[in-house]
Amino acid sequence: MTNTISIGIHDLSLATTQFVLPHTELAGHNGTDVDKYHLGIGQRSMSVPAADEDIVTLAAAAAAPIISRHGTDQIRTVLLATESSVDQAKAAGVYVHSLLGLPSAARVVELKQACYGATAALQMAIGLVHRDPSQRVLVIASDVSKYDLDSPGEATQGAAAVAMLISADPAVVRIDDPSGLFTADVMDFWRPNYRDTALVDGPESVNAYLQAVEGAWKDYTEQGGHALGDFSAFCYHQPFTKMAHKAHRHLLNTCSQDTDADAVGRALQHTTDYNAVIGNSYTASVYLALASLLDHADDLTGKTIAFLSYGSGSVAEFFAGSVVPGYRTHLRTASHREAIDSRRPITYSEYRKLHEHSFPADGGDHPVPEETSGPYRLVSLTGHKRIYEALRHP
Ligand code: CAA
Repeated sequence: MTNTISIGIHDLSLATTQFVLPHTELAGHNGTDVDKYHLGIGQRSMSVPAADEDIVTLAAAAAAPIISRHGTDQIRTVLLATESSVDQAKAAGVYVHSLLGLPSAARVVELKQACYGATAALQMAIGLVHRDPSQRVLVIASDVSKYDLDSPGEATQGAAAVAMLISADPAVVRIDDPSGLFTADVMDFWRPNYRDTALVDGPESVNAYLQAVEGAWKDYTEQGGHALGDFSAFCYHQPFTKMAHKAHRHLLNTCSQDTDADAVGRALQHTTDYNAVIGNSYTASVYLALASLLDHADDLTGKTIAFLSYGSGSVAEFFAGSVVPGYRTHLRTASHREAIDSRRPITYSEYRKLHEHSFPADGGDHPVPEETSGPYRLVSLTGHKRIYEALRHP
């Protein structure tokens, strides 16, 4: 159940935003019992981008430490997956390529299928490395999750990026064959081109996710994948962390196994820590679950990890990874914690102002206030062009 050569995640790095809105603030504004957020959906706070942060600055901030550790020489492909694209034509990864100083001899493309896109990118990267094991592929998942103010989805916003270097003989996690695949045409969550906030049918989206878990698992078993008992941990896409609990309970039910809270809790242990305080990061969410697991669990050497990637609309993939001996020396636990802990808490009214910000579409010169202390910032929208700058290279 492995590739003929070992291919997978050689390095993994996350970035998140300048600001954070605690759910206590949101509950204070809308009169919701905060336990609904803390216990009901399993969220404590959500990352909020500064005016001069977006998916490009987050992506560059996540990827820069990988470039400074490994250099750029073998990277000939950059795949950036996002639901919150900043342009209908130009790939966000091209801005990132420039900010990071990557070589011109590279292909850069953007992938989209709601929250699933980064898993498509990962699998494509594996194919490219398989064809030429001397090459490495930079895969970046970067998203800002945005729903309407005062809507049910509002409590499930967030923002983050995860960058992964995919290579032969990976130092962190080997990605194994086969994958279990599932696609169904459903309208559970979507964002028409003229909107900057997502539309969602909440109950339908939860149901569609559970159907996708079942469908992807069924295909995984038919393709000859691992038995359920082989997995030491399960990394789920987490629009809110309680969704991972619902998903795992559903998987256990599908496999006619005990679904007590302890069994579910054990399977998900450490995979929800980052998502509970960052919120939904769409494409990055399942890889934040992996980062959280690797950063917090006791030694996982040789263990098999399950991944369930779900993107509304919908596409899902169930696959496995094996943790590589020596992985711990390659982790970035301290900088991940620093990125999360250094966010500045904001009030509800500060959050609302940021949420309501949008650029005039008149082609004028629209500078953006300097707010981020991150390494990259959006300087302005000038003549319909987004202008970025590198403040420093981490
Ligand atoms: N104390 C403890 N728990 C409480 C509570 C309280 N005071 N009040 C309510 N709860 C519990 C409820 O019982 C419920 O638990 P269960 O799900 O176990 O029944 C939970 O809190 C949520 O309550 P509601 O269902 O009443 O909440 P809601 O109507 O506000 O909607 C939501 C919740 C549907 C998730 C909504 O936030 C939403 O639409 N979010 C965006 C869509 C989404 O994330 N969908 C997930 C699947 S789609 C996907 O995964 C793709 C993606 O990234 C978007």
